[in-house]
Amino acid sequence: MNTLTINNLSLIYKKGYQAVKDISLEITNGIFGLLGPNGAGKSSLMKTIVGLQKPTSGTIIFNGTDVSKDPDYIKQNLGFLPQDFGVYPKVSAYDLLEHMAILKGVGNSIERKSQILNLLEKVNLSDFRKKEVHTFSGGMKQRFGVAQALLGNPKIVIVDEPTAGLDPEERNRFNSLLNEISQDVIVILSTHLVEDVRNLCSEMAVMNNGQILRKGKPAKLISELENRIWSKPIDQNELENYYSSHEIISRQLIERELHITVFSEEKPEDFNAVHPMLEHVYFHTLTQKP
Ligand SMILES: Nc1ncnc2c1ncn2[C@@H]1O[C@H](COP(=O)(O)OP(=O)(O)O)[C@@H](O)[C@H]1O
Ligand SMILES: [Mg+2]
Repeated sequence: MNTLTINNLSLIYKKGYQAVKDISLEITNGIFGLLGPNGAGKSSLMKTIVGLQKPTSGTIIFNGTDVSKDPDYIKQNLGFLPQDFGVYPKVSAYDLLEHMAILKGVGNSIERKSQILNLLEKVNLSDFRKKEVHTFSGGMKQRFGVAQALLGNPKIVIVDEPTAGLDPEERNRFNSLLNEISQDVIVILSTHLVEDVRNLCSEMAVMNNGQILRKGKPAKLISELENRIWSKPIDQNELENYYSSHEIISRQLIERELHITVFSEEKPEDFNAVHPMLEHVYFHTLTQKP
């Protein structure tokens, strides 16, 4: 079992902006979902964990070793797919993996070849190994990104918004791949898509404004909202009134009719009970004042 323990982590960028505020998390094998809107600080937190940013304060302990001051130990055991992994030299998938494997210290050439071929197989790119990566579709590029992250058999894999920009089929394929690799390693997945977290993650945290606002098992967080979520169709022009009198957590057009969903400890008059879902956890968390 691998463990990543983050204690009171903060990151203030040079110009004074605090992107990570006093975050503490305990993460073990399986997929951990970091869910939050754009600008929440997900990438900043991930870059700090992988050692690309030095934390302003706090500690990051990976399998018993403090890596917050010296990230070498986590780097040796890490696979990272950054959000902006996007510049590809004009070389084939195989050659690029070979180059990256050497950089990662996979020194033995026989071992290197067998790892690369296995990984290409795993991410379903064997037939495209001689093609240049810049010609790949979005989904193929992301699967290539996973292959490079898995070089050197990492114990912790961090993927930053990997499904953004993928079509639904590519997204499903990518998510099954993540699920497959998550058995014996820590996978940290950031996303702004509730659906990805619901389908994949055993543990999750909701992040906004640099803070972790809520964390736990998705099913547990959902069950805490039992009998607290209500909805109702309304007229568009009543919306303002409802905003001032209710805690609206989402609004949705269903067959061209506006429905609002609210959080309330008691059943509001004329509203219908709704089975809580992860969306409600997310939006309710984001509407709460810090
Ligand atoms: N290098 C940087 N210098 C200063 N501010 C930054 C830097 N990178 C990100 N930020 C700011 O930190 C906040 C969080 O950004 P980011 O971590 O990219 O969020 P997310 O990945 O959740 O979208 C944003 O307000 C962003 O503008
Ligand atoms: Mg980001």
